[in-house]
Amino acid sequence: MPDEAAMSSVYPVIGEAGFVRLVAAFYQQVPADEILGPMYPPHELAAAEKRLRDFLVYRFGGPQRYLEERGHPRLRMRHAPFEISAAARDRWVTLMNRAIEEAAIPAHVVTIVQPFLAETATFLINR
Ligand code: HEM
Repeated sequence: MPDEAAMSSVYPVIGEAGFVRLVAAFYQQVPADEILGPMYPPHELAAAEKRLRDFLVYRFGGPQRYLEERGHPRLRMRHAPFEISAAARDRWVTLMNRAIEEAAIPAHVVTIVQPFLAETATFLINR
């Protein structure tokens, strides 16, 4: 896991716009995905996109909107209703890696963001 200094160095570099691009590129792929698509209710996608974006902004050194609106992340608890197998975890990471490319995140930032996302995804496997 990247250290906290590295984590909080990301937002000052890519800003709100970088996270908007990243999370939009991720959710763009979700509805058509045969594993992840069915997990996300179609009418909730925009709200889900905002929750993930606000979380990442907060976690990578930006404003704490996520904490103000949602409280402590408790990610394992919040993911408990979803069947996160190793295959679902791998798919999530694949879609996110594609989003990282599409969003043109600078290489030195990718070395911080990618391991955090992959390791957190592994931690969320619950089946
Ligand atoms: C391992 C594969 C993963 C799957 C299958 C998955 C699936 C989901 C689903 C179905 C939701 C509900 C959508 C909604 O917000 O209404 C959700 C919410 C969320 N996920 Fe994931 N997720 C995964 C990994 C991750 C990772 C790695 C992170 C963080 C780095 C993350 C962060 C979040 C956040 C912040 C929310 C909103 C929680 C809330 O405030 O209610 N997820 N996820």
